[in-house]
Amino acid sequence: MKIDILTLFPETFSYLNESIIGRAQKSGALEINVHDIRNYSTDKHKKCDDYPFGGGAGMVMMPQPVYDAINAIDPRHESIRIFTSPKGKTLSQGLVCELAKSKNLLILCGHYEGIDERIIELCIDLEVSIGDYVLTGGELPAMVITDAVSRYVSGVINENSLQEESFSSNLLEYPQYTRPQDFKGVKVPDVLLSGNHAEIEKWRKQKSLEITKKNRPDLLK
Ligand code: ADE
Repeated sequence: MKIDILTLFPETFSYLNESIIGRAQKSGALEINVHDIRNYSTDKHKKCDDYPFGGGAGMVMMPQPVYDAINAIDPRHESIRIFTSPKGKTLSQGLVCELAKSKNLLILCGHYEGIDERIIELCIDLEVSIGDYVLTGGELPAMVITDAVSRYVSGVINENSLQEESFSSNLLEYPQYTRPQDFKGVKVPDVLLSGNHAEIEKWRKQKSLEITKKNRPDLLK
């Protein structure tokens, strides 16, 4: 999968060069390209924002640099084009799976008070929010989307992890333990040391139900 990220702050994306996503890029399972929108500005000072028509607080991202960037990077519109915005559709594991079916994604990071609406109208397929709170910019949401989608790309993680994890069956994941068997007086549940796989399975299902009931009862409805 190829993911193009368009941002005014490309340095923030170094996180994606670490750990699992970093390794997936090195192995070729994943191609992530971070593009600086400022490079596409025709303004002599590389200006990318301006005051909103009609007045109001803050600055708005200008259409020209973004429009030219998108059309240079995805000229035949082969990517699902996403804009990160608190006004968007809320990201869920279901939406992550849908996005993972695409060969190419383009993620445009919002900033300032918003973006000229004509960019949404002319260029964007989907606005995505990562939750009901407002961040200072779309860079963290772009990393969240990239990370969550990348996990479904073949060769990025062990496929068994996808089956057992939280949300895969509308239940949150059961607790995990590793060595030592006794840590500060708290013991690993006996059943996990029993070698009885049917019992372990039963215990895990029960724990999944308990934690879902406690933290996310809405998932059980
Ligand atoms: N930009 C600011 N807040 C956001 C959010 N919650 N989701 C996506 N993009 C955002």
